[in-house]
Amino acid sequence: METVSKLQARKPAEKITMLTVYSASTAMILNQTNIDTLLVGDSLGVVFQGKPDTLSVALEEMIYHGQAVRRGAPDKFMIVDLPFMSYQVNAEESLINAGRIMKQTGANAVKLEGASEVVLASIQKITAAGIPVVGHLGFTPQGVHSLSGYKVQGKDGASAEKIKTEALAVEKAGAFMLVLEMIPAALAGSITAGLKIPTIGIGAGPDCDGQVLVIDDMLGLYPRAPKFVKRYANLDQSISQAVEKYISEVKEQKFPAAKYSF
Ligand code: KIV
Repeated sequence: METVSKLQARKPAEKITMLTVYSASTAMILNQTNIDTLLVGDSLGVVFQGKPDTLSVALEEMIYHGQAVRRGAPDKFMIVDLPFMSYQVNAEESLINAGRIMKQTGANAVKLEGASEVVLASIQKITAAGIPVVGHLGFTPQGVHSLSGYKVQGKDGASAEKIKTEALAVEKAGAFMLVLEMIPAALAGSITAGLKIPTIGIGAGPDCDGQVLVIDDMLGLYPRAPKFVKRYANLDQSISQAVEKYISEVKEQKFPAAKYSF
């Protein structure tokens, strides 16, 4: 299994791979691959639960999915998202919630978004307790309303400078890795070059230390994937074809044949 120090030692030579995962069955498949890290992302609120955003995802739901993924992928470095309002109140509450995720799911690390005063204090408090933390800057999905929608961040000088400053603050607070979402490639490259910790990009160009995608998006399971997603499979078509075949075989009484009967 990967460890915090092995992942950090990859920078800048070898790219780190990460995919989101929410279920034990998919985790079982990923456990047999060479993927470096799994993220039980609160994107499950959108792609798994069909909600418009991640804001209503509960800590209990993250724990439920984290447990399922851990059962399916016992050998993988697993990061679980702290959901909205589980780390924004104060650092003490953030630590209690991060501790619940670690104890109840068997995660290797937690992830949280932003770099506000309370988030930085939370990163310090959580890492001081021995829990590895991944930061998340640029477009932060839990901030979709304050960011006025799903928009590329850091496009002008001032906002690019703000994200750079935040990245240094997140590193200083103790995060061991940083996700950069939907920012210009040049900005992501410059942040990556200026940090000791690895960066993981999603819609942030090729110069991050690693890449992450939402698994339903890259497998073609979710129809409303963002522009930066490359489809590596069209499982939507495979599922439809399989289901139509099953329906016609049942109607034509071809299924179940003798070999599927007792
Ligand atoms: O929740 C999630 O899936 C994420 C990724 C988009 C990085 O945070």
